[in-house]
Formats: sequence, C-alpha cells, structure tokens
Amino acid sequence: MVTQGGQAAQTDRHDSGVGVGLIGFGTIGTGVAKVLRQNADVIEQRLGFPLRLVRIADLDLETDRGVDLDGIQFDNDADALIADPGVSIVVELIGGYEVAKRMMLRAIEAGKPVVTANKALLAMHGKEIFDAATRRGVDVAFEASVGGGIPILRSLREGLAANRIESLYGIMNGTTNYVLTEMERTGEDFDVVVKRAQDLGYAEADPTFDLDGIDAAHKLTLLAAMAFGAELTFKEIPTEGIKGLLPVDFEAAEEFGYRIKLLGIAKSHPPEHPGDEERIEARVHPTMIPRASLLANVDGAMNAVAVTGDAVGPTLYYGAGAGEMPTASAVVGDLIEIARDLRRGTAGRVAPLSYQPSELGPKPLLPMGELRGRVYLRFTVVDRPGVLAQITGVLGEHEIGIASVIQKGRAGPIASVPVLMQSHPAPELALRTALAEIDRLADVTAPTRVIRIEEGL
Ligand code: HSE
Repeated sequence: MVTQGGQAAQTDRHDSGVGVGLIGFGTIGTGVAKVLRQNADVIEQRLGFPLRLVRIADLDLETDRGVDLDGIQFDNDADALIADPGVSIVVELIGGYEVAKRMMLRAIEAGKPVVTANKALLAMHGKEIFDAATRRGVDVAFEASVGGGIPILRSLREGLAANRIESLYGIMNGTTNYVLTEMERTGEDFDVVVKRAQDLGYAEADPTFDLDGIDAAHKLTLLAAMAFGAELTFKEIPTEGIKGLLPVDFEAAEEFGYRIKLLGIAKSHPPEHPGDEERIEARVHPTMIPRASLLANVDGAMNAVAVTGDAVGPTLYYGAGAGEMPTASAVVGDLIEIARDLRRGTAGRVAPLSYQPSELGPKPLLPMGELRGRVYLRFTVVDRPGVLAQITGVLGEHEIGIASVIQKGRAGPIASVPVLMQSHPAPELALRTALAEIDRLADVTAPTRVIRIEEGL
C-alpha cells in the first residue's frame, strides 16, 4: 500500500465526512450534485473522508433534475440550510446580487466557508464579502466564476505565485466566442448567429451581459486583482462588446492575417521613475489577433487565458468556460480544498485574491488615451471618387500611417460601401481625434468601427 507521511492512505469507513449545503439547484447546482455523487469514490480516495451533499435549497421543488436525491434534504429554506449543523460548507449558486450576497454574508457570519460561481457579485461587492470572510476567519472560494472548468484562479494564486505577472489575455466568454467563430465560419449576420446560439443553449435568453462584454469584464476584474494585487471595480474597466460587427469585418480580418476574438486584457506597467506608481492596463474589447497564435485558434464556446510571468514566461490555460459539468468540476474542486482545510482546522491558508488582504489596494488604471497600437478601421462611405483621399488626408494630418486598405465593391444599388484599413502603430488620442473629424465628413454615412489589433500573442 502506498503511504503518505507514514500514514496508511486508507479511509475510515465510519467517518461521516464533511457535509455540504447547496443553495440554488439550477444547471450548475445539478452538475454539482451529479459530480459529488458519481465521483464520490475518487473524491473520498483523495480526501481520506467523504464529501457529502446533505441539503439543497431552491424555490423550484418540482422540476426533476435527473439526480438521485436519496439521503439529501431538499426544500426552499436557505436560512435553515445555513444554520443546519450538518452543513459545514455552503455553496451559493443562485446568481444575482442581493439575495446571493445576503446568503453569503449570513453563511460567513455563521462561520461557514462559502463556494460560489458568482463573478458578477464578486466583481461588484467582492471587497465587502472578502473583508467579512477575513474578519470571521472563513474561506470564500470562487474558482468556477472565471473560465468555468479551467483552474485558472488556482494557477494564478498558487502555481504562479513565484512570479510577477506581466500580462494576461483571456477569451473568457463562451457565448461571444461561439458567435465570433460562427460569424467567421458561415459569413452570417450577427443576429442570425445569436439566435442559433440561443437555440443551441450556448447563449442565455437575455445574452446582454455576454454580448456587451460585461461578463468578461467581471471576470477580468477578478483576474486583475489576483495577478497584480489591484483592487479594481469592474466599472473602471473600459468595456466594448461584439454588437455591430459585420461579416465584412471577418473577411477583412482574414485578408489581413487575423482572427477576431473578444479579449480581456490586463497588463502591468511598472514604475518608470523612482516615486512613480505601478499602473494597470485593463480592457475588454473585440481584438484582431494573428491567425497563427494559440488564442486565435480557441473556437466555439471554449475559453482560454494566456498568462505571462517574469520567471515562467508565457503559459496558457484552455478548457470549457461554461456548462453544467465543467463548472461543477470547479465548484467541487473548491469544496474538496475547503473540506481538507476544515479537517486540518485551518482556514485562510491561501489568500483568496492571491495577495494578502492588507496588500490589495487601488492601483491607477492606464487611461485608454495613453495606449498606442495598430487598429483596424471600417469606414462607411458614399462610393464616389475622392472619398478615400479625404479619409487618408485626415489620418495623415494626425500622423496615422496606413498599412493596407481594402475597398469592397457595391453589392447592389446601395449608396454606401465599406472601406477597410489597418493602421500602423498610432497613439489612441490621435486616432480618436482623427475619427471624430472623419465621421463628420459629408460622405461618411455611419460611425467608423474600430477594432484594436494585438500582435504580441
Ligand atoms: N455566460 C458565460 C459565457 C458563462 O458565455 O461564457 C458563465 O460565465
């Protein structure tokens, strides 16, 4: 028999284990119940004692989730679940803000660790929740909130703890990645593809948070805190979604050698002079990235996060960013870690946001106006001689160089045509000023669409 630390690696058949209470029995909650049941043996072999789902609370007591609930108390009383002495760890999977926050704070006050997948709540009210947990000396774990089943938070917090993190690029929203992949593959319009994503269950009935980049910004808020110790709130993060992209943007991206991905980007800008502060660059927007890069080839609803540390260099984490079983994998992983600590009588072994709470603080965000980079531009213009010269003239006045241009012909008797360009590296402020001027030209019939280009991937 393999032994560890001189102890027989054997479980005690009379150990009733650690009890788990689940609040929210929707898709992910159902996955958690399934994983705990179907992998009970291997979890016990790893822990040395059972991890048991003892109680579930949900308002919907009727729907058959296809899970064996034998031995599990199931009712709609979340408060009683938190107070139940048989529940040692509380899982919050109801989502939303107010009720979820109240439940989490109540569990923390009761001295019970909490596992959640609620990125929106943590990105908005994380400080209050983590402060309460620190005061009470209990753990809050949230691996499932970013990247679904990918253990990206644990990798940042533990596997990469030796590093100063330099940059982080993530495809962190499966819905938008599916829509972008399909628009490129089929040449179909945005609305057609979004409808298909909803029919297939990839997109929520109201996919606004996904399509507007808000979900990705919530996730980036958590990652930036963990990577840089930056106490950001998601409202500070400049965020642009994928609405308004056209099939022609994907055709142009291919001709220019790129693919379009919704990226969450966070970078550290170390102080340049003594006395200066470190600044953090954080943004979410559709981005053109080289077709050969690994991130460019993350397709469909999959997620990936590329992290570069000063010691380790570039690393990449890939997997299912959503879905019942992958997200449950992350939730149960957190439960296992907390159960292990409970048994050893420890808590707070690893700081939840990777930095000690006293070391987390607001860090100045690099203003978008200070960015410098290449961009793709889609101008919509009246198709007549001299229009291109007007546009290039304004760009030239602001010292914005043009790397290449594509002009698509008229598809029919339409007055406007797209003119597609990629620029040389240019300061963001000059670009903004030039585009404001161009969009006022009489022959420019719609606001110009900008997609930033990131080469260093
Ligand atoms: N709605 C998210 C996505 C999954 O599409 O990736 C939950 O974070």
